[in-house]
Amino acid sequence: MEFITKPVNLDKYQGDSLVVGVFEPRKLTEAARRLDEVSNGYLSKLLAQGDMNGKANSTLLLHHVPNINSKRVLLVGLGKEKTFNEKTFAAAVSAAFKALHQTGAKDVCFCLADLIVKKWTIEWRVLQIVLLAQTSIYRFDRLKSTAESKAPVLAKVVIPLEDKTDLPAVESALQQGIATACGMGVAKDLGNLAPNICTPSYLAEQAISMAKTYKLKCTVLEEKDMEKLGMGALLAVSRGSRQPAKLIVLEYRGQEKMEKPVVLVGKGITFDTGGISIKPAPDMDEMKYDMSGAASVLGTLTAVAEMKLPINVVGIIPAAENMPDGQASRPGDVVKTMSGMTVEILNTDAEGRLVLCDALTYAQQQYKPEAVIDIATLTGACVIALGHNATGLFGNDESLIQTLLQAGEQTYDRAWQLPLWDEYQELLDSNFADIANIGGRWGGAVTAACFLSRFTEKCHWAHLDIAGTAWKSGKEKGSTGRPVPLLTEFLAARARQS
Ligand code: BES
Ligand code: MN
Ligand code: ZN
Repeated sequence: MEFITKPVNLDKYQGDSLVVGVFEPRKLTEAARRLDEVSNGYLSKLLAQGDMNGKANSTLLLHHVPNINSKRVLLVGLGKEKTFNEKTFAAAVSAAFKALHQTGAKDVCFCLADLIVKKWTIEWRVLQIVLLAQTSIYRFDRLKSTAESKAPVLAKVVIPLEDKTDLPAVESALQQGIATACGMGVAKDLGNLAPNICTPSYLAEQAISMAKTYKLKCTVLEEKDMEKLGMGALLAVSRGSRQPAKLIVLEYRGQEKMEKPVVLVGKGITFDTGGISIKPAPDMDEMKYDMSGAASVLGTLTAVAEMKLPINVVGIIPAAENMPDGQASRPGDVVKTMSGMTVEILNTDAEGRLVLCDALTYAQQQYKPEAVIDIATLTGACVIALGHNATGLFGNDESLIQTLLQAGEQTYDRAWQLPLWDEYQELLDSNFADIANIGGRWGGAVTAACFLSRFTEKCHWAHLDIAGTAWKSGKEKGSTGRPVPLLTEFLAARARQS
C-alpha cells in the first residue's frame, strides 16, 4: 500500500473514496463540514433524518454526493468529542479501513489525521493511520491451498495536508510508519508460521537472506561453536530437540565511525513444549509464538534498514526448540553458563532465561554495547500481571527505561515498568548451584527478570516481557508484530539525537 501527503481540495478529489469523521451526536468534523457546505447540506440532512448519529465505530457509505467528485464518501462515527482519545481514535481508523475494504475503493483520501487526540501530535496520528491501515490488510494465507478471503484492493492512501507547516512532520511519520509496518509484517509472518517450518535453522536462513537484501553482516554460530564458548545453558535447552540450536547475529552499521551499538537480544524458542516439565495440552500450539522476541528483532532491524537510520544496531537471536526426549535436560540438572555462573534447572519450562543468559553474555563480550535490550515471551506471570495491553518492562538503568516507555507511548505500543528490587533476588537461591532457574510461584515475571539481571550487571540493560502482547488468541489468533513499533521508535529517536 502506498501512502502520500499533499494539499487536497476535498470536493475536487477525483478518487474512489473520501473518509471523514462525525462526532456523536451528529457533529461534523472540519473536513465533513466542508463537504457538507459544497453539497448544500447533504450530509447534515442525512444526519438529521437519522441515518447516522456519530456513534463510535459506526460507518455510513455514501455514493454520488452532490458536487463532490469522489465516487464515495465514507462517514465514520467518532463517538463523543469530549471522550475522544487514543483508543477511540484507533478504533475509528480501524473501522474506517474495515468498511473501505468492503467496497471496491482502490484509493482513498483519509481525512482523520487532523482530529485532535489529547496531547498527541500530527506525527502520532499519521503513524497510527499507517500502522492500522497495514494491519487491516494483513493476511497470513500462505499455508492454505487456496486463499479463502478476497484480498483488499485498497492500494493508495492520501493524507490531505491541511497546514503546509506540517509537511516535514507528516512525511517523517509516513516514512517511519511504512518502515515500521514492513518490520511488523516480517515479525508477524515468522510468528504465524508453523513450528515445523519455522525452526532455528529457518530463522537463521531468514536472517541470512535479510542480510543480503539490506547489506548487513550475518553470522550464525552452530552448536559446536557454542560449546567452545561455554554456552551450557543455551545448549541444555536444545538438547532434547532434533533441531540444532543456532545463535544468529545480525549487524546493522548505519554509522561510519565505530560507535558502540545498541544490541537487541530476542528469545527464539521456535516451539516450547516445556521439555521434561511438560506443559498441559490445551493451547500448546500457541507456543509456536515463543520465538516472537526473535521475530521482533528481525522485524525491527528490517525497519531500521528501511529507514537507513544513522546508528549501529546488532541483533542477537538464541534460537532453539524446547522438547522432551531421552537426551533432554532434567529438573535438577546443573549447567554452566558462558558467564561462568552455574544454574540449577529446577524447571525445564523456564527455558527462555537459559537461552537468553548466554546470549546476553555473548552480546557484552563481543560488542561492549551502549545498551542491551532483550525481548522475550518470557512468563505466563507477566500475562497475569498486565494482560494483553502492556508489555512488561524491567531494567537496571532508569533513563533507558524511561526512554523505552516514551517510545511505547509515542507508537501506542505501550509498556509498563515492573519492579526489579533486590528483595526479589533471593528467591533464586539454590542449594546446589550459584542460582536456580525459577523463583517460585509468586512474582514470576519479576523473578525471571531477576535471573536475567544477574547476567547484565555490567551494562545498561532493559528487558521486555512480551508474553501478553506478541500474539492474540481465540478467533483472531495471530501475531501482533509487537513490540516492533516501540523498538523502531526507540532507535529512530536515538538517531534523531545523534
Ligand atoms: N514461553 C513460556 C512463557 C509463556 C507462557 C508465554 C504462556 C506466553 C504464554 C515460558 O518459557 C514459560 O514456560 N515460562 C514458565 C516459567 C515457569 C516455569 C517459572 C511460565 O510462565 O509458566
Ligand atoms: Mn517454557
Ligand atoms: Zn518459553
